[in-house]
Amino acid sequence: MKTSGRLVLGIETSCDDTAVALVQSDGTVIAAQTASQTDIHTMYGGVYPELASRAHVDKIIPTVQSVIEQSGVRPSELASIGVTRGPGLIGSLIVGVNTARGLGDGWQVPVIGVNHLRGHLRSAELEGGKVRYPAVVLLVSGGHTVLAFMQDVTTIVRIGTTRDDSVGEAYDKVARMLGLGYPGGPIIDKMAVDGKVLVRFPRPMMGQGLDFSFSGLKSAVSRYLESEPGARAEDVAAAFVDACMDVLIGKCSRALAMYKPASLVVVGGVAASPQLRAEAKKLCHGNGVELCLPPLKWSTDNGAMIGLAAWDYLSKDIRLDASPNTSLSIEDF
Ligand code: KG4
Ligand code: ZN
Repeated sequence: MKTSGRLVLGIETSCDDTAVALVQSDGTVIAAQTASQTDIHTMYGGVYPELASRAHVDKIIPTVQSVIEQSGVRPSELASIGVTRGPGLIGSLIVGVNTARGLGDGWQVPVIGVNHLRGHLRSAELEGGKVRYPAVVLLVSGGHTVLAFMQDVTTIVRIGTTRDDSVGEAYDKVARMLGLGYPGGPIIDKMAVDGKVLVRFPRPMMGQGLDFSFSGLKSAVSRYLESEPGARAEDVAAAFVDACMDVLIGKCSRALAMYKPASLVVVGGVAASPQLRAEAKKLCHGNGVELCLPPLKWSTDNGAMIGLAAWDYLSKDIRLDASPNTSLSIEDF
């Protein structure tokens, strides 16, 4: 099959967003659409996997159709379809992968399975963003909290990871404890602005290496709420965010000292946090390192980052079978 087209169709269905985009090799996004499932999962305070895959089935074709129609692009203009093959929820991944394969067969366009985490790593170069390499990357999402060293666009070494929960998961669980809905990140961040740090929650693994742990912090918030039932949600949110920032920025600071990169890249859903953006800016300013952040709308899951990562696979001639794999690491293609 030919790969001479000028666009990649990126398809992302690893979790609770049905996201599709058309992307050029330089990161220009021609059209993009995301069907969010927030309304479905809010009442559960987290993603309900069976409902997520069913919603993907309903939304995937209309979302692809809308992106194709918005752009006026013909399938013959596609170099490939890049689709998330993992990690993620198996039922959700299967919907994206099977749809991509069907479209690829029908349109005679090659289909490339893409690692969702590589998609996040590349999100900072969408729509004009430029990352200076080598880079230290902090990937903070609902499913992952990882530090990586990127020598260049495709050479990635994992240098730190969470031993238990991800930071996004901790945000979501604390929001659920406070009865605030899902996703917890944006709600907690907003509340924290109006709160005071009246308690110092633990900073797990702060003094050791580049790995993270967030489950002890989450439990500490839970115990605090039991012992102080009258605590203001705003104050609890402020103390929780304060602990998260200390840990995330402390680990980034150590990674900058160890790897001496040209830039720090912060990506993933939690990179939408204004507090994290501000703290990362201070850190980079103090270290003379460039800070690279994706535009807000490309921080959370989207199809454009998968499309851009697929271009990397094409340039390296890596044509992975689009079979779902729930356990990919950041170093895998
Ligand atoms: O990258 P993402 O969209 O999906 C995964 O790959 O997991 O990240 C979702 C996570 C959720 O845990 C959500 O609470 C968190 O990102 N999040 C935020 C913000 N917006 C989303 N966390 C902190 N502050 C935000 N503004
Ligand atoms: Zn993600």
